[in-house]
Amino acid sequence: MRKSFDGLVAVDGASLEIEPGKITALIGPNGAGKTTFFNVVTGFYRADAGSIVFDGSSIARKSPNAIAGRGLVRTFQLTKSLAKMTVLDNMMLAAPDQTGEKIFTAWVVPWVVRRQEKENRRKALELLELFNLSDKKDHYAATLSGGQRKLLELARALMMEPRMILLDEPMAGINPSLGARLLEHVGELRDRGMTFVLVEHDMDVVMRVSEHVIVMANGQVITRGSAEEVRSNQQVIDAYLGAGGGAVEEELDKSLDAEGKRDD
Ligand SMILES: Nc1ncnc2c1ncn2[C@@H]1O[C@H](COP(=O)(O)OP(=O)(O)OP(=O)(O)O)[C@@H](O)[C@H]1O
Ligand SMILES: [Mg+2]
Repeated sequence: MRKSFDGLVAVDGASLEIEPGKITALIGPNGAGKTTFFNVVTGFYRADAGSIVFDGSSIARKSPNAIAGRGLVRTFQLTKSLAKMTVLDNMMLAAPDQTGEKIFTAWVVPWVVRRQEKENRRKALELLELFNLSDKKDHYAATLSGGQRKLLELARALMMEPRMILLDEPMAGINPSLGARLLEHVGELRDRGMTFVLVEHDMDVVMRVSEHVIVMANGQVITRGSAEEVRSNQQVIDAYLGAGGGAVEEELDKSLDAEGKRDD
C-alpha cells in the first residue's frame, strides 16, 4: 500500500497480512505510518496505490461505514461533542446505521425501528456491564477518567459487532490497572475469535499480549515475526535508534529481562 500527503510518503509500499483470531502488534517509531495505515484500511483515507482485502473481498474503495458493516472497525477518541453526551447515548450512537436511518422504513414500519432500538439498548447495557461502566451510563462521557474513556472507546467499537478491531495506542495515558483490564478484555475477545491489530509503544505490553509483531519504519514493513524474534532483531533496534529513540532500546532490554523473569 502507498499513501502520501502532498509529496510526503507516509505509507511507502508496506504490505501487511493479519492473522485472523490473533492479536497482532503494529510497532515502529513515530511517523512510521502506522496510524495512516489504519486510516487507509478503515476507509478514512484512500490509498494512492495498493489493494486491501478483508475476508476475501476488496474493501479498497469502500466507505468507512461499509467497511465497518463488514466487520472491520477502528476505535476513535471521544470527540468533544460525544463527551457532552451520556455514556449510554455514546453507545447507542455507535450502533451501526440500520433501519432507523432509512426514512422509508421508519415511516412505514416504526415497530422495526423500535425493535432495533431496543436491541441496541440491550447490547449497549450488556457491554457497559462487561466493561464495568454500568453505574456511569447516565453520566456525561466527559466525566469519565482517561482509562474509562478508553474502555468506552473499545465498548463503542464493539457495538458494531466487528470481527476485526484496530486499536491505535489504546493504553496511552491510562493508569496501569485500567490498562490491564483493557488488555484482559482484548484477550477474552480474541479467545472468542476476534482479530486485533494493536499499535502500541510500550514494549512490555507488546511482548505480553501480541502473538505476532509487525514493525514499520518510514512507511515500510521492516520485519515481522513473534515478539521474541522481533525484539532481538537489529534492524528494529536501529530503526528506533534512527528515529532518536534510545529510550526504546532500553524498553526492549527491559522487556527482555521481564520476560526472562517470568520464564523462571
Ligand atoms: N493527514 C495528514 N496530512 C499530512 N501528513 C500526514 C497526515 N497524517 C499523517 N501524516 C504524516 O505521515 C507520516 C506518518 O504519520 P503516522 O501518523 O501514520 O505515523 P505513526 O506511525 O502513526 O506515528 P506515531 O507513532 O507518532 O503515532 C508522518 O510524517 C505524518 O506527519
Ligand atoms: Mg500514530
